[in-house]
Amino acid sequence: MTVVHVQDKRFETYIGSVEINKRVAALAAQLNTDYVGLNPLLLGILNGSFIFAADLFRNITVPAEISFIKLASYKGTTSTGNVITAIGLEENIAGRHVIIVEDIIDTGRTLHSFLPQVMLQQPASLKIACFLSKPDAREYQVDADYIGFEIPNNFVVGYGLDYDGQGRNLPDLYTLCTD
Ligand code: IMP
Ligand code: MG
Repeated sequence: MTVVHVQDKRFETYIGSVEINKRVAALAAQLNTDYVGLNPLLLGILNGSFIFAADLFRNITVPAEISFIKLASYKGTTSTGNVITAIGLEENIAGRHVIIVEDIIDTGRTLHSFLPQVMLQQPASLKIACFLSKPDAREYQVDADYIGFEIPNNFVVGYGLDYDGQGRNLPDLYTLCTD
C-alpha cells in the first residue's frame, strides 16, 4: 500500500492504474458496440473528467466526437434552488447521440439539475458515462448507463479527481486515510 500526501491529508492506494485502464477499455468496448453508425458526441464535464474522457475516447474505435463543458452553479429563482448551466457548449446537440462523461456521481445534484437542460435541446439520445459512482451518497436520482466503478462513500483523489485542486495527476485512485 502506498500513502501520498495531498495538501493537509493522507491518502492510500485504492484502485491501481492497471485495473483502471482495463476497466476504462472495457467501457469503451461497450460503447463501440452500442454506438455503431451513430457518431456519438461525448461531452466531458470539466475539470474532473478530463483524464477519464481522454482515456475512454482513445479506446473508442467507432466514428465519434468529443467536446468539453464547464458547469456553473448559481442561485435560481425557482423553488429548486441552484440552477446549473453549461459554459462553452458550442456544438448543436439537437439530433445527436450525446454521452455525458463525468468523473464521479456523488449526491447526484449536479447531473440531476443539468440533464433536463440538455434534454431541452432535443438530443437523439442521452446517456451518462461516469468513472465512479457512490450509490450510498445519492440524494438526487441519476441513472448512469456506463459506470467504471461503484465505490463506498469515501473521499477519493487521483485519475482526474482532486482534493482542493491537487492530486488530479495521480495515475492511481487513492482514498482518504481513516486513521
Ligand atoms: P454531485 O453533484 O454530488 O454528484 O457531485 C459531483 C461532483 O463532486 C464531482 O464531479 C466531483 O467534482 C465532486 N466529488 C464528489 N465526490 C468526490 C470525491 O470523492 N473526490 C473528489 N471529488 C468529488
Ligand atoms: Mg466534476
